Amino acid sequence: MIRTTLLLATLFALAACDGMPGRPKPASRWKSPSEITDFATLYRQNCLGCHGMDQEVSGSLPMDAKTYLAVLPREVLFDVIAGGIPSTAMPGFSTKSGGTLTEAQIKILADGILAKKPSAPDATLPPYAAEPGDPARGATAFAAACASCHGEGGTGGKAGSVVHPAYLDLVSSQYLRTIVIAGRPDLGCPDFANRIPGRRMTNEEISDVVAWLTSNRKNEFGQPLVPVKSSLP
Ligand code: HEC
Ligand code: HEC
Repeated sequence: MIRTTLLLATLFALAACDGMPGRPKPASRWKSPSEITDFATLYRQNCLGCHGMDQEVSGSLPMDAKTYLAVLPREVLFDVIAGGIPSTAMPGFSTKSGGTLTEAQIKILADGILAKKPSAPDATLPPYAAEPGDPARGATAFAAACASCHGEGGTGGKAGSVVHPAYLDLVSSQYLRTIVIAGRPDLGCPDFANRIPGRRMTNEEISDVVAWLTSNRKNEFGQPLVPVKSSLP
């Protein structure tokens, strides 16, 4: 009994000793999540599972897609990381949105992502956001720019369907526009400049294809959804 007590006391004394081998030094102890300020670690821990980078393929658009970075406004990137995108799998990361990242960390993420932006700005790029165009014209543009891979009517060919209601339910209209502009370089979906031999898709074609894609959305009874007219001029 006495021996056990002595042994325990010795162990406690040793455990409390900083010189004990294996005891972490203060500097190398686990940082609390809010102390992480390294872009690569923040990206790996919070984003990489869904957005690839450096050729790592994952479920959603890679955050180093060149055409994407060229059109993405910094404030959109910051707001999306902080607040997420409602009704999609993109979570908000700010503490205000129920996430764990501080404003400083969100800034590090946004700056780190944009550090890979191509340095020469291209004034002829389509705008990141725009009102959807005309769905009927969009069907024609889709046939010219997309059907060779996604099949006539978008129901699938060499590449998968882009009109399945389950898919269209999962993504926002802006995300569809983003993909129409930037493609999915990691998966072999070309960007807007490389789909039609010899020319880029025009801004009008881009907005029209987005309108056509979203016109394939259906409600829970399988009925087509009537597009809501925007109140914007
Ligand atoms: C050269 C072939 C090719 C062309 C042309 C093409 N795509 Fe794709 N696209 C792909 C491949 C490959 C994928 C990866 C998934 C798959 O296999 O379905 C993909 C994926 C997508 C996705 C899903 C992306 C995601 O992250 O959810 C959308 C949406 C899409 N394409 C839209 C389009 C539209 C719209 C056009 C025309 C404006 C187009 N694509 C033209 C090959 C192509
Ligand atoms: C659980 C999966 C998941 C995680 C984790 C995630 N995202 Fe996303 N993200 C998505 C999905 C899905 C979308 C597309 C949402 C939509 O339909 O608009 C998206 C959209 C985005 C967009 C907007 C794309 C556009 O259309 O312009 C940005 C920017 C983005 N994510 C950045 C990030 C960053 C940075 C992180 C890490 C801090 C992150 N995401 C973590 C799933 C995720």
